[in-house]
Amino acid sequence: MMMDTINSMLNWIVPPASLVMLAFSWPTLTFINTCERIYHSFFVEDISGKVVVLTGASSGIGEQIAYEYAKKGANLVLVARRDQRLRGISENARWLGAPNVLIMAADVVKEDDCRKFINETINFFGRVDYLVNTTSLGHTFYFEEANDASVFPMLMDINFWGNVYPTYVALPYLRQSRGRIVVNAAVENWLPLPRMSLYSAAKAALVNFYETLRFELNGEVGITIATHGWIGTEMTHGKFMLEEGAEMQWKEERELQASGSPVEEFAKLIVSASIRGSAHVKFPSWYDVFLLYKVFAPDVLTWTFRLLLSPQGMRMTSFVGTGKPLLESPSPPRRLAAVPHTSVTRIQLVE
Ligand SMILES: NC(=O)c1ccc[n+]([C@@H]2O[C@H](COP(=O)([O-])OP(=O)(O)OC[C@H]3O[C@@H](n4cnc5c(N)ncnc54)[C@H](OP(=O)(O)O)[C@@H]3O)[C@@H](O)[C@H]2O)c1
Repeated sequence: MMMDTINSMLNWIVPPASLVMLAFSWPTLTFINTCERIYHSFFVEDISGKVVVLTGASSGIGEQIAYEYAKKGANLVLVARRDQRLRGISENARWLGAPNVLIMAADVVKEDDCRKFINETINFFGRVDYLVNTTSLGHTFYFEEANDASVFPMLMDINFWGNVYPTYVALPYLRQSRGRIVVNAAVENWLPLPRMSLYSAAKAALVNFYETLRFELNGEVGITIATHGWIGTEMTHGKFMLEEGAEMQWKEERELQASGSPVEEFAKLIVSASIRGSAHVKFPSWYDVFLLYKVFAPDVLTWTFRLLLSPQGMRMTSFVGTGKPLLESPSPPRRLAAVPHTSVTRIQLVE
């Protein structure tokens, strides 16, 4: 009863008081942010010789991010399960300028594997400066189409816990180096899209987790959260969890033609945002306009998605899952050129 009265009073007082505060704080904050942006455009962290641990480095955005850090002279630790792919990528990275590259076949949803690759990094380099998480698994089925609920935790494991475990294990070393965590979320964390319910939920959890961690770390370890839309990678070209429950599979043909933006451009953007100390990076930024719709006219978004992405228009193929993770892709990474050094340290963590 008492609580009800207090809440009724607050319902009247808090909204107008907050709007007044916002009116005063907005210009000040915009000014401070602009000054920070100008400062960061001049003072960029020199990461040559620093140690970047990169999970999900065997394809897509992770692979390109590895090349961008390599060009800046960082030492790299490349982590994924398909170590054959990591081998080619590590050679490319050395050719592009990374002084040392370790490759580690590991499953990031296993805390022990994460502990091992972070320990190996410390044994070899003695420090961790950046932890860049790009592991993920998308899906393209409507929630009701899933015929095996046991696949649900797998999606949350890779997309959420697969970021949290490496972060948990690396944090003490990142604190020592006053380092940075780079997180790959997705615009779906606030813009729900059909056929991506579990993926979107995991990304929303990820953003909330890292925004809370940002408070807890109080600036001693930086956090850059990237939220991006469609980008041309394995994920947008057919590597997904299927409704039958296969963890992942290459599809001969996708029913939705993905027209992604160049992944190289996005990788450049994310690396440059991380060394400038940015808290957020978005690509492309025009998605932001949908925030207004989400707050003021959410029905417009719902109608648009219904119209554009109706189930009848989408489902043209049925897929048969393998029930196993895809461990080697049919297309190994393209070699960039003749590689001067080929000595790459490889540590096998998964059977
Ligand atoms: N592509 C897009 O359009 C898009 C849009 C928005 C957000 N994103 C986000 O950007 C990030 C990168 O996406 P991407 O398109 O580059 O994806 P991708 O090409 O499918 O790469 C995913 C990576 O995660 C690794 N991985 C998956 N499960 C793993 C596990 N259990 N242990 C270790 N490694 C694992 C994969 O390597 P192995 O299979 O070898 O283990 C692969 O290297 C993701 O966080 C994604 O959600 C992408």
